Amino acid sequence: MTQNASLAALLSPFESPKLQLKNRVLMAPMTRQFSPDGVPGQNVVDYYRRRAEGDVGLIITEGTTVNHKAASFDSKIPNFYAEEALEGWSKVVEAVHKAGGKIAPQLWHVGCARKPGTGPFPDYPSAMPSGLALPGKKVGEPLTTQEINDIVRAFGEAGGNAKKLGFDALEVHGAHGYLVDDFLWEGLNQREDKYGGSRARRSQFAVEIVQAIRSEVGEDFPIIFRFSQWKQQDYSARLATSPDELAEVLTPISEAGVDIFHCSTRRFWEPEFEGSELNLAGWTRKLLNKPTITVGSVSLNEEFITTFQGGQADAADINELLQRLAANEFDLVAVGRALIANPDWVKLVTSDHADQLKTYDRSILAELV
Ligand code: FNR
Repeated sequence: MTQNASLAALLSPFESPKLQLKNRVLMAPMTRQFSPDGVPGQNVVDYYRRRAEGDVGLIITEGTTVNHKAASFDSKIPNFYAEEALEGWSKVVEAVHKAGGKIAPQLWHVGCARKPGTGPFPDYPSAMPSGLALPGKKVGEPLTTQEINDIVRAFGEAGGNAKKLGFDALEVHGAHGYLVDDFLWEGLNQREDKYGGSRARRSQFAVEIVQAIRSEVGEDFPIIFRFSQWKQQDYSARLATSPDELAEVLTPISEAGVDIFHCSTRRFWEPEFEGSELNLAGWTRKLLNKPTITVGSVSLNEEFITTFQGGQADAADINELLQRLAANEFDLVAVGRALIANPDWVKLVTSDHADQLKTYDRSILAELV
């Protein structure tokens, strides 16, 4: 496959019944903490507009919190409830659409990853076993059924608002050891009611969230569900150690009404299970027969950039990504840090200007550019 033919895979439109995108590049959700009192302002509008102008196919916003007393851990994380915050989001949507882009909010409840003293406990699926608490975080009490119902309702309302505000899709943050994922993961979910026990039962909270959103947004609105094996509490954690186990976790969530799965990995090229080269997005697509998004270190490895710069393409990483995409292992590619460093990443990598790509550095996070 030649490099240009491969690039066509990245630039070809994504066509699905509920979502059509001009290309296969997504902006990965990334918390930025530039929304004082939870309200996204003009700086946030401009930040997302620049990525839309840069031809990103679908922007997934930073995690934005649903309406529950303990959903957030920082007052500068944007909320997805209350008039002022929703007005701010409405301006973001308008600007992105005007620039020819599409956008989905990532709906978030941080659960036990909250800093002590920033809200009332409890916000855990069950009491946190010792040894798993994040540094500086407290051990919490299990959520009551009433609290679970309140949170499910909050996700449903947020879904309804996403549709009303004109977003093109929404994503549920079910990854990285935040609340939805805390239920999925045996390490934190020791419940003995219908929300705990087997893998399928641990998915029940996510199922109810997706159902609540679906009943608010109707059949035609695309719902993306993001999940991960790794947890911020434990990078070696696993929801599933085999394809069968992965199917046990994801099938009920899929059947609840998810359209696209966003399979969060830190390196897209790593095989997920022994005996196959398929990555997490590859396995998820194969098991569920639904479109999937891959993510993880795209354009951060030297080989990727060298290849796009027209260097000797002997390093396989970018070609591997493009070949896997062309072979339909997954459908879409999310780019995180490289898009923070390069709002016009899509244009640069697909033109003769890849030499202008800036390398990501954490110091870039100090500003919202
Ligand atoms: C993230 N990531 C992330 N993920 C998520 O689901 N919700 C979020 O709010 C955030 N926040 C966040 C902030 C920052 C500063 C970074 C760098 C990352 C993870 C992100 O979506 C992505 O999965 C990883 O960054 C891996 O992709 P890249 O950066 O290697 O392309």
